[in-house]
Amino acid sequence: MSQVRLERVSKVYDRATVVRGIDLTVNDKEFVVLVGPSGCGKTTILRMIAGLEQISSGVIRIGDRIVNHVSAKDRDIAMVFQNYGLYPHMTVYNNMAFGLKMRKTSNEEIHRSVTDTAEFLGIRELLQRKPRALSGGQRQRVALGRAIVRKPQVFLFDEPLSNLDAQLRVDMRAELKKLHRRLQATIIYVTHDQIEAMTMGDRIVIMKDGLIQQVGAPMEVYARPQNRFVAGFIGSPSMNFVPCTLARSDGQQSFANSGISVAVPASKAAALAAYEGKAITLGIRPEELHEATTQDPVNAVFDAIVEVVEPLGHESYIGVKAGTASLLARMSPDTRAEVGQTIRLAVKVEKLHAFDPQTEQAIC
Ligand SMILES: Nc1ncnc2c1ncn2[C@@H]1O[C@H](COP(=O)(O)OP(=O)(O)OP(=O)(O)O)[C@@H](O)[C@H]1O
Ligand SMILES: [Mg+2]
Repeated sequence: MSQVRLERVSKVYDRATVVRGIDLTVNDKEFVVLVGPSGCGKTTILRMIAGLEQISSGVIRIGDRIVNHVSAKDRDIAMVFQNYGLYPHMTVYNNMAFGLKMRKTSNEEIHRSVTDTAEFLGIRELLQRKPRALSGGQRQRVALGRAIVRKPQVFLFDEPLSNLDAQLRVDMRAELKKLHRRLQATIIYVTHDQIEAMTMGDRIVIMKDGLIQQVGAPMEVYARPQNRFVAGFIGSPSMNFVPCTLARSDGQQSFANSGISVAVPASKAAALAAYEGKAITLGIRPEELHEATTQDPVNAVFDAIVEVVEPLGHESYIGVKAGTASLLARMSPDTRAEVGQTIRLAVKVEKLHAFDPQTEQAIC
């Protein structure tokens, strides 16, 4: 059983608290991604789990053991770092064999383990090379191989793809997912890239300033972000936020700003009642905006002026201004929009998000 459990774990460096009482359970064989902006404490958490950093308070359990005072080498964990940390003077074979030699594994066993793993990772023909004679992607595989041969209970990955070019990153994302399935291992993976988090994690943990903001399956977090930070961080391009007033007339609530007035769907009316006549932040994902047709209800439609057109081939990003609000819409590449032109947009009102402007918590 290789569950990892953090209970009220904190880290203080010279009076600065960088991890603030984190509770998190990573289940056996689960792939969990910690994601958040630079400096939010991701690496610190991994290093505390690995035993490379003392915790200031709290409890860390791996399996059914409390490991607070267990040294790194006895935690049965393998960590893959961003810079791979390969030994430059050793061949690939010896880099991979090193940990096993330290454990006094027999030579036959080492040979079998290293060659099998190299075969599995597609680096068998590289075993006699030194790291400087490898590409970034090949080095990355060697670092993975070195972790895999040790058959640890838990793998910790700290931004292992960030040194690779864009195409290789996409390929390695898929490979790591396959690897996870084959190894049946518990993986905790750190990244600041929300696309990596969304595509790889069984669950994702969104962090900010040493605190967990939300934990959930990727699509659950995407559909129901609990606060404005998560709403803006997950999803690319980011959610649009529009400062509005919650207006009410003839029994119908609407989000209103100088250029937009869209109806609140009946399903959300009760939750928003307390905000009538008050400020509210409307959240609209770029893909929930489309060019209006006669099918769209009039109270979900507004006019906007096109400011930017970014064709990407398979879709276009269209930046518009509606009243004082700037919005980005993600539209079909066939959309004919020119800068300066007025375009009529419609929103899917059921997909709108609303946030309290003070607390920034999601209202519904
Ligand atoms: N040894 C240290 N002494 C003092 N402060 C530290 C130390 N290590 C990290 N910190 C601080 O702790 C905070 C969290 O750092 P950490 O490396 O965990 O962030 P991160 O989320 O991994 O960021 P990045 O995405 O940039 O790698 C930062 O403000 C950092 O400056
Ligand atoms: Mg880091």
